[in-house]
Amino acid sequence: MGFVAFPKDFLWGAATSSYQIEGAWQEDGKGESIWDRFSHIPGNVKNNDHGDIACDHYHRWEEDLRLLKDLGVNTYRFSLSWPRIMPDGTGLINQKGLDFYARIVDRLLEYQIQPNVTLYHWDLPQTLQERGGWAVRDSVQWFTDYAEVVFKKLGDRVPLWATINEPWVAAFHGYYSGIMAPGIQNFATAMQTAHHLLVAHANAVQLFKMLACPGKIGIVLNVSHTLPASDKPEDVQASQRYWEYLNGLYLDPLINGHYPERFMEFIGDSAPVIEASDLTIAKGSFDFIGLNYYASEVISSQPDEGILQLASRSFSSSPFYKTALEWGIHPEGILTLLKVMKEQYGNPLVYITENGTAMEDQVLADGQVNDRDRIIYIREHLLKMAEAIELGVNLRGYYYWSFLDNFEWAHGYDPRFGLVRIDYRTLTRHPRRSFSWYQDVVRANGVWE
Ligand code: GAL
Repeated sequence: MGFVAFPKDFLWGAATSSYQIEGAWQEDGKGESIWDRFSHIPGNVKNNDHGDIACDHYHRWEEDLRLLKDLGVNTYRFSLSWPRIMPDGTGLINQKGLDFYARIVDRLLEYQIQPNVTLYHWDLPQTLQERGGWAVRDSVQWFTDYAEVVFKKLGDRVPLWATINEPWVAAFHGYYSGIMAPGIQNFATAMQTAHHLLVAHANAVQLFKMLACPGKIGIVLNVSHTLPASDKPEDVQASQRYWEYLNGLYLDPLINGHYPERFMEFIGDSAPVIEASDLTIAKGSFDFIGLNYYASEVISSQPDEGILQLASRSFSSSPFYKTALEWGIHPEGILTLLKVMKEQYGNPLVYITENGTAMEDQVLADGQVNDRDRIIYIREHLLKMAEAIELGVNLRGYYYWSFLDNFEWAHGYDPRFGLVRIDYRTLTRHPRRSFSWYQDVVRANGVWE
């Protein structure tokens, strides 16, 4: 057993997002978001859970930041609620909302924890949804205006920014599968939405550079490794198609300035309307790319399965433990993807902006929460990341998802991803074993094999 050290300036962090933890959904002038609306409709979320209170982070943020300080991380990724800052999405600014985030940023800096701020983690102001949401081109301008308000308030002191979290999920689960807000089910609309999210991101980055903000800015993408179900040509092609759909749809325009051609041909009339300069602005519109990696997918060709004519299932290389969401576990996949970033995408600066797992808790007699499997999960992924760094991949940071248990979208509060367990009846915080284990990793700047 050897100790695997990470580079000296490696960023160690944990992540959350506004709707999933804040609560206070109607407080201090906050407007309604599409997730407030969606989760209040019975049947949309498991157990009809919603984020009205969530972890009550809006009121307990000081306690939470003290816990982060105790964890010892040198960075924290969180997101801003757009309707808390601009209740109607455009125009009027809610000073109380903006001040809430300014206090968080200042406290983090005082604790020497670098804020990594995401502008958009899925909680669009409901008023903007009523004007068409991300499906209409105006959304690009709405987002840029919101970004300007935030950059002017916090741009002088936030070192790391992400424009949009997982635009693919926002587009295809919000507008195609419909399992997430706003719950629309139309593939062509989802494609158009996906494009607007890309252009909105690129415009916000342009603005950030124009304002000469000193930090780094990027985007956060959900990525998965894909494997064909067999070596039959149709499965191999389906797997490539899924790869281009899930990963290439953003990586290609961001890095090469065009959408994956085969994929665009395949979807035919569902391809989005693109304005002349969109892809030129998108190309290179980042200082870093954030990658959220959870698992790998096995893909088979299914001619009857919707527009993409394929089916996917989660892959697991780890038969001994599984996640509470029945997601597979495949640490090798993170290495494969990181190698692809180096070999096929020019080795940009990347961070793993999310990686983690929901596991069943084992509560011991002394009240401690033993989450041994989560520790194994994190350690295996970290070891693969260390291998990638050894191979020259430009990977400089890791954020565990999530710092706290939280509202897991359509799954409600059942899946628990946190290093910190939340007792939702009392809202008390209980660091799990993984919390102290991660504390050691951060302190030692590495992990034992
Ligand atoms: C990501 C998302 C997070 C969190 C996580 C675990 O897709 O950005 O908000 O829910 O998955 O499912």
